[in-house]
Amino acid sequence: MARRRQIYEGKAKILYEGPEPGTLIQYFKDDATAFNAQKKGTISGKGVLNNRISEHIFTLLGLIGVPTHFIRRLNMREQLIRQVEIIPIEVVVRNVAAGSISTRLGIEEGTQLPRTIIEYYYKDDALGDPMITDEHIAAFGWAGQEEMHDIADLAIRVNDFLCGLFAGIGIRLIDFKLEFGRVWDNDYPRIILADEISPDGCRLWDMQTNEKLDKDRFRRDLGGEVEAYQEVARRLGLLPEGADGAVLDLEKHRLSKGK
Ligand code: TMP
Repeated sequence: MARRRQIYEGKAKILYEGPEPGTLIQYFKDDATAFNAQKKGTISGKGVLNNRISEHIFTLLGLIGVPTHFIRRLNMREQLIRQVEIIPIEVVVRNVAAGSISTRLGIEEGTQLPRTIIEYYYKDDALGDPMITDEHIAAFGWAGQEEMHDIADLAIRVNDFLCGLFAGIGIRLIDFKLEFGRVWDNDYPRIILADEISPDGCRLWDMQTNEKLDKDRFRRDLGGEVEAYQEVARRLGLLPEGADGAVLDLEKHRLSKGK
């Protein structure tokens, strides 16, 4: 295969130049980091699972009219996406207290929040992604006022949809992180959903047992990361019943054949 030009390497994904102008290839790695990459590891097969899970969710979001960067999945670890100007903001949506809000405000993990809370963090690893407000975003011009309206609206729509989707498979959506990008349609800027939605950037708890089915298993050294991600994929109907390892085995087979 021809060498592709790498555009960007993040902690869990690599972006390559796409086959046509305005497209990119998003490659999902098995690398996992936490606490701004102070903790590093690999979750074997995570990239394959996140590629499938994110494809599934972005496809469904597209069907309900949420504009996204997703075009199509190309193979086990790659998807074709629209190139965007990434808005340098991590948008966190919280339904239930956990993680940093629990620590910061002293709210017990698992407490239902009185309303859904949206938080913004400035995407800058060197600064440790500090929390920011609309004021900072406006003052420093990271996104326009209309763009921030669109981002907040889309975040709430995604949250409503995902809460229902996960509730249907016995999972409570505690919180999650989204990223958005700007595309230009006839010189007119438009906000679309970018990045990924997977157990890497969501807190997903089993509704019956409160078992964590997400990256907190890695962050908190709970073990069973792959099994948790597989369980999410299985409940979403992305792994055949009783054949949890099938997707990963298929990739091993493909790799051993050198394809
Ligand atoms: P937090 O409680 O650590 O602030 O995380 C809130 C949610 O955002 C949680 O589902 C994990 C996700 N998240 C990321 O995807 N990337 C990050 O860098 C951070 C800090 C959180």
